[in-house]
Amino acid sequence: MVTRVDTLVLGLAVLAACGGAAADPEVGGDTTAGTTTTGAASRETTGDDDPAGSSSTAAVDATSSGEASTGDVPDGPCMGIELEDDACEILRAMRWTPELPPAHGNAVADDETAAELGFALFFDARLSSNNQVRCATCHEPDFGFGDGKPVSMGVGTVARNAPSALDVAHVRWQFWDGRADSLWSQALAPIEHPDEMASTRLAVAHRIFDDYAGRYEAVFGPLPPLGDLGRFPATGAPGWVAYDGMDPADRHAVDEVFVNVGKSLEAYMRRLVTGPAPFDRFLDGELDAISPAAMRGAAVFFAAGCPSCHAGPQLADGAFHNLGMPDDDDASAQGRALGIERLLAAEFNAASEWFDGEPPTDFPPTVGAADLGAFRTPTLRNLAVTGPYGHTGAYANLSAIVQFHLDGGGEPIVGERDALLQPHELELDAQDDLLAFLGSLRGGEPPLPWGEWPM
Ligand code: HEC
Ligand code: HEC
Repeated sequence: MVTRVDTLVLGLAVLAACGGAAADPEVGGDTTAGTTTTGAASRETTGDDDPAGSSSTAAVDATSSGEASTGDVPDGPCMGIELEDDACEILRAMRWTPELPPAHGNAVADDETAAELGFALFFDARLSSNNQVRCATCHEPDFGFGDGKPVSMGVGTVARNAPSALDVAHVRWQFWDGRADSLWSQALAPIEHPDEMASTRLAVAHRIFDDYAGRYEAVFGPLPPLGDLGRFPATGAPGWVAYDGMDPADRHAVDEVFVNVGKSLEAYMRRLVTGPAPFDRFLDGELDAISPAAMRGAAVFFAAGCPSCHAGPQLADGAFHNLGMPDDDDASAQGRALGIERLLAAEFNAASEWFDGEPPTDFPPTVGAADLGAFRTPTLRNLAVTGPYGHTGAYANLSAIVQFHLDGGGEPIVGERDALLQPHELELDAQDDLLAFLGSLRGGEPPLPWGEWPM
């Protein structure tokens, strides 16, 4: 659990208390960047009334010159920011939008009862083989719905960093390598993954039958007669004798319950929305919603070429790029190229019978040369609570991952580095301003939907 910090108290004392050290000594101890700032990696669990982004902005400033946030208000042509018309348009188009994109293949994505069921399931450790791992183990509310660790620990250890589930409804291709084409099919993967929850669809169907039958049936209609253990063994999934030996119609019925669990989880996760952040209020005309440093940082963000990939309301282009990020795991390092292969072979993809409605026009994606070693551009919202960064979680603080970009990335393990990523030399002050800008993108906590977190 994270120390709750009075976000109005600024300065180094705050950073010492929460500068990423709270969760995991491995992470907190990191000094990779050697630069001045760790503030944005701090996990402030913000109060309600304080503009979270502006306080983390101030915290960032406090670690550097101490002057940054009190400097003169810039006087450029784009709401005070030094940006030409075209760039100003791109900046304005970064405003957070309340509309969610439509879900893919999920008829109950916006159903209230389905979401309430998904909420309970997200926090239920009994969906794992050892009754100890739940979705929230790796997607914890206190860690911005990530886990604060470089790579995740479930029943085993996972090769990648857990992305935040905040604002995840905006993500078209789920996972770092885009190997799921819907949020509901994504949600099914960790349940049967041996290193995550290591459970089976039969065990999950029994859990629904035993504990969630009312809510389930209200949304999806009658459950199969799971009380008949002769027909429905206690546990099993494809590849298990117990499951493979079942009557095909019963297998189908179990698959359907499993799919509906994923669809309920999606209905809940669609509600994990965070905006608008101080930056959005600034775009709406509240010109003092962000600090002068953050305003200067917005110009630096453009000067350093970041919007070529980080633009739009999530500051992410929805595409995949090879930045040459180090990765010890050979399969993981293949990125999007292997992700597409896995997606095409996936049991629950848009070509499956479980996909509600017509398959979308962008399915199936095809593999291009640029997909080798490429990972999805992550959102830059809420970075203050979603570290460590990068698909391997190797960057403990924000200045380290930003420096990696400013160096022009690394040597690709496979494929070619994306030419959109170019090295940029920035003065220290400009780097601090850039971090202040990123800090202004912290939105609020998603509303607590139904009473307390089911801990
Ligand atoms: C053991 C830790 C762990 C558990 C448990 C876990 N996840 Fe994850 N989750 C991860 C990791 C790691 C990734 C990234 C994997 C990758 O991209 O290859 C991920 C990815 C995701 C994503 C994709 C986000 C994105 O931006 O692409 C979503 C959504 C998600 N998980 C939801 C869930 C749900 C729902 C559950 C429970 C059914 C769950 N997770 C259980 C660790 C976990
Ligand atoms: C060529 C496209 C591209 C450009 C240009 C680019 N990024 Fe990125 N950025 C990415 C991708 C892709 C990732 C994820 C890479 C990975 O994990 O392998 C990423 C990751 C990040 C992360 C980590 C987020 C997280 O949740 O892990 C931050 C922060 C970031 N970028 C900031 C910036 C900044 C600041 C700039 C400008 C200096 C910039 N990026 C320029 C594509 C880009």
